[in-house]
Amino acid sequence: MSAFHREKVLSVRHWTDTLFSFTATRNSGFRFLNGQFAMIGLEVDGRPLMRAYSMASANHEDELEFFSIKVADGPLTSRLQQIKQGDTILVGRKATGTLISDNLIPGKRLLLLSTGTGLAPFASLIKDPDVYERFESIVLVHGCRQVSELAYGEQLVEKLQEDELFGQLLTDKLSYYPTVTREPFRNRGRITDLITSEQLFNDIGQPPLDIENDRIMMCGSPAMLEELRQMFEASGFVEGSNSEPGHFVIEKAFVER
Ligand code: A2P
Repeated sequence: MSAFHREKVLSVRHWTDTLFSFTATRNSGFRFLNGQFAMIGLEVDGRPLMRAYSMASANHEDELEFFSIKVADGPLTSRLQQIKQGDTILVGRKATGTLISDNLIPGKRLLLLSTGTGLAPFASLIKDPDVYERFESIVLVHGCRQVSELAYGEQLVEKLQEDELFGQLLTDKLSYYPTVTREPFRNRGRITDLITSEQLFNDIGQPPLDIENDRIMMCGSPAMLEELRQMFEASGFVEGSNSEPGHFVIEKAFVER
């Protein structure tokens, strides 16, 4: 049995010259928890060329979705960015990862902190009804350099707001906070600074960080993850894992090339 399922590309959307997303068929045997990742790739010269990708689709959806960067000389992404409807991609049979709700101690507010394509696992998690059961409120933060890089997240949230099931859940529980660092926008600044200065909480009209109530998932730039980890640990937050739940969990945004 091959380690991969062969799936058909159903759609491809290019968001900027460095970002694209695509959907693909999903083998009925491919199971995952929302927030997890799998190995995704292409057959190149008869061999699988694979990288880790978070599923941006939720596990109740029939299709798989992925959100990727494009790197001109990246071994996989230089090729993957050229896929078209009907092409074949490889999807590893096993999903894994730490950004799952069971890895968090119960809390009241869930902060989902992401930069760039680190948004992908949270695209899956905000389509998980169980997450809305577990938390009274969810704050989705997406930091990018430029406004154009926010488009995937903006459209995701807009679509969910119109959804019959999720529309009301989002209205009641989700605060979406896109922020940009390198050009003018209504929200500006790095996620680290927005938390330290409490600007994020002021802007969404919610109380500042509090270890009793807040649980955190983060995914994105390694430098940001390291700074956030240190910040949270200095306030007593403990990192969770698949063996022991904690106050926060971390995953770097995978594909870099
Ligand atoms: P900045 O523009 O100030 O570097 P990148 O494209 O480099 O992965 O960055 C994505 C976003 O993450 C950018 O908005 C960037 O801000 C921000 N960022 C990069 N490093 C850090 C860090 N150490 N802490 C917080 N945010 C960061």
